Amino acid sequence: MSIRFDILTALPKLVESPLRESILKRASNKGVAEIVVHDLREFTHDKHHTLDEPPYGGGAGMILKPEPIFECIDALTAERQYDEIIYLTADGERFTQSVANELSLKTNIILLCGHYKGIDERIRVALVTRELSIGDYVLTGGELAALIVTDAVIRLIPGAIGDGESALTDSFQDGLLDCPHYTRPPEYRGMNVPEILLSGDHKKIAAWRDEQRLQRTKERRADLFGDHL
Ligand code: ADE
Repeated sequence: MSIRFDILTALPKLVESPLRESILKRASNKGVAEIVVHDLREFTHDKHHTLDEPPYGGGAGMILKPEPIFECIDALTAERQYDEIIYLTADGERFTQSVANELSLKTNIILLCGHYKGIDERIRVALVTRELSIGDYVLTGGELAALIVTDAVIRLIPGAIGDGESALTDSFQDGLLDCPHYTRPPEYRGMNVPEILLSGDHKKIAAWRDEQRLQRTKERRADLFGDHL
């Protein structure tokens, strides 16, 4: 299984550097995921490579022009079929683990990063199939949000991370937070690893972990706990 993301941005360098590191880099080396960054300026035709203009009707900020984005998406859709054309925006649908799970089953996804004050509405109406927000705060652009979506989705693709099981046992994966984890040494600065984890009794350990997950969720995110019951 393999997934392809095409990220459309006015700031390609901002997106490229995190992709050269970590799990995302490994996933693309292993052929599990392909991430292609497109510089929207390459789809401009004027000498100044104009990507944005002031809004009609006046007001602060600049708006991304339709032509470069339409032309970039035309070029991509002529090559392959896309499952989703996603625009990252603070007024989009909230990006959650369940959206990440859903996207991890797709094959080709376009992520469109807005910048400045916004993008021409005709892009949203004619091209965009889904709008995602990573949270209730406003970023300077969609680039960091696109990276978050890419990271959260790619790590779910089998083979992307070392341990096949670990993505499935994450916090949120079944609506609960994760349990505490410990590794060597068994005692550090007077703090002990819970006895049960050293007991070798896997049944009891599993029960302890379930209990911890419920307790943590209740304490930290009662909203999730409510949904679970
Ligand atoms: N662009 C600006 N703010 C954003 C947010 N919260 N989520 C996604 N894209 C954004």
